[in-house]
Amino acid sequence: MKDLINIGLIGLGTVGSGVYKILATHREDFKRKVGADLVVKAIAEKSSEKADAVGANREIITDAKTIIEDPDIDIVVEVIGGIEPAKSFILEAIKKGKHVVTANKELLASHGEEILKMADKNKVDVFFEASVGGGIPIIHLLKECLASNKILKVMGIVNGTTNYILTMMSEEGCSFEKALKEAQQKGYAERDPSADIEGRDAAAKIAILASIAFNSRVKFSDVSVEGISKITAKDILHAKEMNYVVKLLAVAKEVDEELEVRVHPAMIPVKHPLASVNGVYNAIFVEGDSVGEVMFFGQGAGSLPAASAVVGDIIEVARNIQYGSSGKIGCTCFRNLNLRPIDEINSKYYLLMNAADKPGVLAKIAKVFGDNNVSLASVIQKGSQGSTADLILVTHLLKEKNFRMALNQIRKLSEVNEICNVIRVEESNE
Ligand code: HSE
Repeated sequence: MKDLINIGLIGLGTVGSGVYKILATHREDFKRKVGADLVVKAIAEKSSEKADAVGANREIITDAKTIIEDPDIDIVVEVIGGIEPAKSFILEAIKKGKHVVTANKELLASHGEEILKMADKNKVDVFFEASVGGGIPIIHLLKECLASNKILKVMGIVNGTTNYILTMMSEEGCSFEKALKEAQQKGYAERDPSADIEGRDAAAKIAILASIAFNSRVKFSDVSVEGISKITAKDILHAKEMNYVVKLLAVAKEVDEELEVRVHPAMIPVKHPLASVNGVYNAIFVEGDSVGEVMFFGQGAGSLPAASAVVGDIIEVARNIQYGSSGKIGCTCFRNLNLRPIDEINSKYYLLMNAADKPGVLAKIAKVFGDNNVSLASVIQKGSQGSTADLILVTHLLKEKNFRMALNQIRKLSEVNEICNVIRVEESNE
């Protein structure tokens, strides 16, 4: 057993500073939990102000290369994010026999296979709990606590920025633009918010979750992605009137030995457990064949919540070092499931259109749907605006391809002025 386990921290930004603080605050406690002193031996960070801000000795500030080359460093913690140079740092560290803890969702979602294979080859741990859901434990839960299950579905709200925007639009009836501006003022949305609002952040996270839940590699580029920028105050209001809420959902499920993995806004019933997850909070809903439905809820971002997950991983790596069990849970992708194209998925749809308000228009629209095998669940006409009216249609469950074919024909009808929006409707048991 070691008395001392040395950590090299690459990055002292939002997550890195939280990691440093937690390790300093609970150092004595961790000694008892692990049986060794967990010490940050070196930090790779260009800004000495950041080191001062967390109370780190400037003498331990160095660069990533020095950390990776240092034979006394046992665990490399990468919290700079992005693909390069993070990927090279991690691969080099693994080759040197170091264990790695990272919060890097972009990297894991695109290059997870290469990294985990390298880790397996070198018998080291690579843990990445903070890459999905910030402080919410989900990766270890899927790999360990729920390992007795065949996972049927993973569905989550995994992006706090968009959840804040949608919650504000719902509670205050405001536009997407106004809600985004407020999210930026409060520091929840970045100045360039595109990765969040266009769904790319959530897509990276569901790619990681799907790979683990279904034991089959899913990459970021495999995920069908649609963001929330087209959602209007009207859509949110209509959802409310029909007892739904609009959420940006990340969904992965196995259907007939194929995987569906997608991110898009969806209307979910107000009674669904995810419907009451508001503001910047995240939640992940999992369905397993034995456990049934379980949901994990918490803060999906922020310095200390994300650092909580990173330090949890550090402690596990340290325990594995102590008991000689490093590398026992590596890559778990032992299946090779095909991905179902988005055209082939089954869903229900909400459709808002503006059409001429005169006899025979509804009949024409209904005929196009009928001809394309689309069955309608409800049709609502919202107050006439002179010679036009808004029509809200909700379909039964059907193949996306059929819905899109019908929609293309409806677009061409001279009585239809505008297709305002289409939003999928996700019921819990489909
Ligand atoms: N930008 C993310 C969010 C947090 O809004 O949830 C980091 O993954």
